[in-house]
Amino acid sequence: MLDHEARARDLLPAHISAYYGATAGSGGGSAEGIAAWSAVRFRPRALVDLSTIDTATAVLGTPVSMPVLVAPMAQQLGAHPEGEAAMGRAVATAGSLLGVSTNTAVPFADVAATGAPWWFQVYVTRDHSLTELLVQRAVEAGARALVLTVDMLALLPPDVNPRSWPESPARSRMTNLTASELAAADPHAVEMDPAISFDTVGWLHRISGLPVLVKGILRADDAARAVDAGAAGVVVSTHGGRRLGPSVPTAAALPEVVAAVGGDAEVYADSGIRSAEHVAAALALGARAVFVGRPALWALAADGADGVRAVLTGLHTDLQQVMTQLGVARIADFSPDLVSGAR
Ligand SMILES: Cc1cc2nc3c(=O)[nH]c(=O)nc-3n(C[C@H](O)[C@H](O)[C@H](O)COP(=O)(O)O)c2cc1C
Repeated sequence: MLDHEARARDLLPAHISAYYGATAGSGGGSAEGIAAWSAVRFRPRALVDLSTIDTATAVLGTPVSMPVLVAPMAQQLGAHPEGEAAMGRAVATAGSLLGVSTNTAVPFADVAATGAPWWFQVYVTRDHSLTELLVQRAVEAGARALVLTVDMLALLPPDVNPRSWPESPARSRMTNLTASELAAADPHAVEMDPAISFDTVGWLHRISGLPVLVKGILRADDAARAVDAGAAGVVVSTHGGRRLGPSVPTAAALPEVVAAVGGDAEVYADSGIRSAEHVAAALALGARAVFVGRPALWALAADGADGVRAVLTGLHTDLQQVMTQLGVARIADFSPDLVSGAR
């Protein structure tokens, strides 16, 4: 996977690789997130029947081949001429699920045509009617859930901000809104609304009829409020270290969130997942599944859909191996006793 990053950085224009690799503040959030997953220590089980290792599971009712999904990431046309459509083809072959960013410049129909199940990630715009239009179009195109991201109100520094890219706005535009809809809107209408609240969860559920996940949760109290507000689940995330450098890593935040809402809702995790051991750590700590972000994006840039497929099938094969070593035959058999100090 690191090999994809080095090659992608060689191939991509500097402003695009800077945006993909960026972390918040003084940096370090991404590396610390990875290190926290690597620090988890396992307590493998002995003498378990391992004649069949089954990685299949379901996420909000959608069957997937493994509990590894691809995170919603903006600006994928910067990595590949087909962006999320190429990503989706790889995801479909791997039997995984794709998160599709509000800031995609690929039509929803092209994502749907890949056959990959997908969830639409929502940033609520200042003009809520634009969000409503986008959500309706995502529903019509077959999105199976909404992922409300609540952790990215601060913009990245100007030198890595896509709004300053030479090709902008074409590549960063919300293509799923028409040019006339965008032209008719106030110039600030598409900015993120800084005044959203837990009520937004219920609103999104009402206008879409879809389950809503809240992404960017790092605390038990916020998780509980999200679920009380109607969320079907939460994603424990630091946005890949892009929100706030010195924040708690997701491996450390996950147990309190699972303790608060794990019985009532599905808990997902991302930020720094780089290996099947990391996936197993998250599952043992109570995650239903994880998202990978940059590893898939670098692979898309370096090798297109084939690169992403290689990342996903590699994680799948490695997860079977790790489950064998752990004495876990099925995803449902993951539990906190597999991890030292987390019982
Ligand atoms: C280039 C890039 C763009 C992203 N865009 C979005 C986005 O539009 N919406 C969102 O919810 N998260 C976005 N994320 C965060 C990812 O969904 C995910 O939380 C993060 O990448 C996971 O961390 P990892 O990259 O260490 O795997 C983005 C991440 C990257 C690297």
